[in-house]
Amino acid sequence: MKIGIIGAGNIGANAARLFVKAGHLVTISNSRGGDTLNELVEELGDNAQSANVEAAVDFGDVVFISIPLGKYQSLPTNGFNGKIVIDSNNYYPDRDGFIEELDNGSTTSSELLAAHLPGARVVKGFNTIWFEHLRTLGNTDLPLADRRAIFIAGDDTEAKAVVAGLIEDIGFAAVDTGFLSEGGRSQQPDSLIYNKNLTAVEAADLIRYESLQD
Ligand SMILES: NC(=O)c1ccc[n+]([C@@H]2O[C@H](COP(=O)([O-])OP(=O)(O)OC[C@H]3O[C@@H](n4cnc5c(N)ncnc54)[C@H](OP(=O)(O)O)[C@@H]3O)[C@@H](O)[C@H]2O)c1
Repeated sequence: MKIGIIGAGNIGANAARLFVKAGHLVTISNSRGGDTLNELVEELGDNAQSANVEAAVDFGDVVFISIPLGKYQSLPTNGFNGKIVIDSNNYYPDRDGFIEELDNGSTTSSELLAAHLPGARVVKGFNTIWFEHLRTLGNTDLPLADRRAIFIAGDDTEAKAVVAGLIEDIGFAAVDTGFLSEGGRSQQPDSLIYNKNLTAVEAADLIRYESLQD
């Protein structure tokens, strides 16, 4: 699969390493231009290249976005129609500035991103896992039930299935928390499942427990 990545930091670069290792093709970008990523691309090998953000969007069947949430409005709005977008961003007001709709709970960060990207099939994912765990805990030798969980949420069932497949390709198991409006909320910083090191079975139990509390 062709994956365009926006953001080449802790999460974006490690996701790129894992996707390439799993046999996918990657174009990775940041705000400063593809030339600043030459060293990373050299490390990643022939299945990776760097580019500007627009070219990474254009390249990907799936576009993986991993930037400080406060910068989301700088992303191009064109080119996302029909594309599956993985949103790994989190809202940290100290870093991102205060965003009223998030502070008053009227929406979620993934819904804000989705509204900015017309036609994008947004799946929230990879946002609850610490980058060091992402880098080290994937294990394709394990049965799905015993793998470390990566939570996903979204409104497009088919898009979620594609993202779940990518998660499995890199040695994790996808656990679905629901639609963006509810799952997106339950995956936010300080939620019950945020940064928890859980197997898929433990994660599914916790989601069930959480829904019983509602
Ligand atoms: N760190 C974690 O363990 C972790 C875990 C889960 C989720 N997250 C979330 O994932 C996102 C990324 O976190 P991170 O730790 O990977 O951040 P990071 O290491 O600071 O990297 C951020 C990346 O985003 C790029 N970027 C910034 N503004 C951009 C823009 N306007 N357009 C394109 N690229 C832009 C930066 O490139 P330039 O340097 O060129 O600007 C950099 O490559 C955040 O929302 C974070 O909350 C982080």
